Amino acid sequence: MRNITADNITDAVLARFAGCDNPRLKEVMGALVRHTHDFIREVKLTEAEWLAGIQFLTQTGLKCTGQRQEFILLSDTLGVSMLVTAMNNQYPAGATEATVFGPFHTEVMPLAESGADIGGDAPGEPLFVNAQINGLGGEPVANAEVDIWQADDDGLYDVQRPELGDTRRARARMHTDAQGNLKFRTVVPTPYPVPTDGPVGAMLVATGRHPWRPAHLHFRIRAQGYSTLITHIFRAPDPYLDSDAVFGVRSSLIGEFVEHPAGTAPDGSRLERRHFTLDQQVVLAPA
Ligand code: BEZ
Ligand code: FE
Repeated sequence: MRNITADNITDAVLARFAGCDNPRLKEVMGALVRHTHDFIREVKLTEAEWLAGIQFLTQTGLKCTGQRQEFILLSDTLGVSMLVTAMNNQYPAGATEATVFGPFHTEVMPLAESGADIGGDAPGEPLFVNAQINGLGGEPVANAEVDIWQADDDGLYDVQRPELGDTRRARARMHTDAQGNLKFRTVVPTPYPVPTDGPVGAMLVATGRHPWRPAHLHFRIRAQGYSTLITHIFRAPDPYLDSDAVFGVRSSLIGEFVEHPAGTAPDGSRLERRHFTLDQQVVLAPA
């Protein structure tokens, strides 16, 4: 085909996929081309804007390292990650909802026994979490593998602090007991901005958006016979619950962080400062 025009170029590109023997790839690539061409037509993209877009994506790629995934951050801030999460994790009524994974999980986690202080020397007010993990039928989920990770009182994850080296804190891998229960001490999470020192931060500024996420604890729960659940528990009140930079808040995921004055903590220790408790029920959907 020659003399291709702005009117027939979409069909010309789609025709090139005729020989693709992977039907799913053909469907995805075809839709990508159709929607991209339609987007360009809709906004009447100029050549300068096309180049700015290419430069933005190039900078996004160049910002990526083993520890920094700027493309995932772009996906998160454009609502793409949450859309994919919501479409692919529709659990039956009664099951705990999923939300975004985020970039700060590490596959290698410090192992901790139930009752441990996983906060280590992370700055923050003491928080005692008592999590009960059940299946949809109310049965306790014993020996579930639970990854927990969170930001500290400065709004930073351990992996964002070069001074910590390989030391990990405010994250752990724990297992529920025979009754599906898990307890740990940590620090109260606070709101924090997503990383803004790259092209995604520039995009947020240019579009008049703030980079903040409401305070939360992350959980990934894996258990035989159940769907893996990747979720957060958010803390209220929080100024960003209705404007999360990555669109991850669900009302059902707001936990009750209860404040207690100085005194005896749930683990029997004596605390000279106020502390918080969180009793959290989690319900896993069947696999
Ligand atoms: C997080 O919750 O850790 C997170 C999620 C998306 C982007 C940045 C951080
Ligand atoms: Fe987070």
